[in-house]
Amino acid sequence: MENKIRGNWGTRIGFIAAAAGSAIGLGNIWKFPYITGMYGGAAFVIVYLLFVILICIPVMNSELLIGRLTGKNPVGAFKELIPKSSWWIVGAMGVLAGFIILSYYSVIAGWAIAYIFKSGAYMAAGTGAEQANVFVNFITSPVAPIVWHGIFMVICIGIVVAGVEKGIEKYSKILMPALVVLLLILIIRSVTLPGAGKGLAFYLNPDFGKLSAEGILAALGQAFFSLSLGMGCMITYGSYLKKDSNIPTDSYWISGADTLIAFLAGLVIFPAVFAFGLEPTAGPGLTFITLPAVFASMGAIGHLFGIIFFLLLTVAAITSAISLLEVVSAYFIDEVKWDRKKAAWIMGIIIFLLGVPSSLGQGVWSGVRIIGGRDILDSLDFIASNIFLPLGGFLTLIFIGWVWGTDKAIKAGNEGSKGPITLGSGYSFLVKYIAPIAIFIIFLQKIGLF
Ligand code: TRP
Repeated sequence: MENKIRGNWGTRIGFIAAAAGSAIGLGNIWKFPYITGMYGGAAFVIVYLLFVILICIPVMNSELLIGRLTGKNPVGAFKELIPKSSWWIVGAMGVLAGFIILSYYSVIAGWAIAYIFKSGAYMAAGTGAEQANVFVNFITSPVAPIVWHGIFMVICIGIVVAGVEKGIEKYSKILMPALVVLLLILIIRSVTLPGAGKGLAFYLNPDFGKLSAEGILAALGQAFFSLSLGMGCMITYGSYLKKDSNIPTDSYWISGADTLIAFLAGLVIFPAVFAFGLEPTAGPGLTFITLPAVFASMGAIGHLFGIIFFLLLTVAAITSAISLLEVVSAYFIDEVKWDRKKAAWIMGIIIFLLGVPSSLGQGVWSGVRIIGGRDILDSLDFIASNIFLPLGGFLTLIFIGWVWGTDKAIKAGNEGSKGPITLGSGYSFLVKYIAPIAIFIIFLQKIGLF
């Protein structure tokens, strides 16, 4: 049944592009390298890859099939599958997580937009410490980053108001491939810098002694964050999916593209980090300090690449952010019966306001520390990525595996699908046992019970 009121994806490629557009964003280029740097490099990367395959792909299949079957937002979807139960709360947790994530995501995206225009400053700054100065001076100032954060939110609201097909799909199709090409060029520059070898070793040569419980939880959170899972985003995107789409194949494409881009981003960042004498553990500023140093090392062409790069990063952030705003808006459109315009504007403005403390926490409110010494932005990210998303994923798996039943899920997932790959006993085994048990153990070992 085509859904005329809510809209559908125009084409199959359009859907994959939009879902990959949701997955590929700041999580790949900003967050993956800095988290990898903080938690020890190659060993972290391997754990991350394992989590993508064993935990996240089953969750992605599950979310997409729930969405396609019900054609609803996360709350409505759970309500429809098992009426009169409390499972809709999982969907509601997701909507809340979307709120929180978008609030600080938009702040970082604002930094990316600002950096399109800051090429003059970072080209003049040269390498290392000077780049750090340019960046810190900018993010600690009280007004400018908030203005960029506001500009970013307004762009996202505009696209969500335009609707699924016209808005989201169109922007994703062309610009992601451009991003890959630019990353490949930058990798060549980065690995040929003097001293790059140390960075490659850090990134590719695992030292499992560096792994901590904290790092393992961070890898799990990062896998969920990067693939846009655990909060009903893929339920919402799946709800616009046509019935003849092949869910497992789509999941592999989306996860594969997302993982590839994160991996490439690491190949640009780490050789350069070591070549310029920066610290891989620098945290959230790592990408914004390292990449400008790479551009500055390239002369005039670097200037051009810098502008194009931050433009593409902004677009990647937009296609991700609109998926977050879409989840929140779809909830108010379906369940509270607001129209699209009202839902997107009201929620967008509230989320903007919620993001302001994250921005101020870099400067005037930098004394405010919440979770384990983290500033406001990092604390919100920790709660959302490392707690809410894996918990949402865990409950989705338990729901499919033990409440609603994998038989029904497999039937719903395979129904009408074309192509050789189908969901079967492997999916069922991962959903019922491997993935939820793994998440459970990771939580236990983080709180020190294991
Ligand atoms: N995955 C996106 C990124 O890597 C961010 C994102 C979009 C997201 N939608 C999400 C994260 C839903 C968690 C849940 O930048």
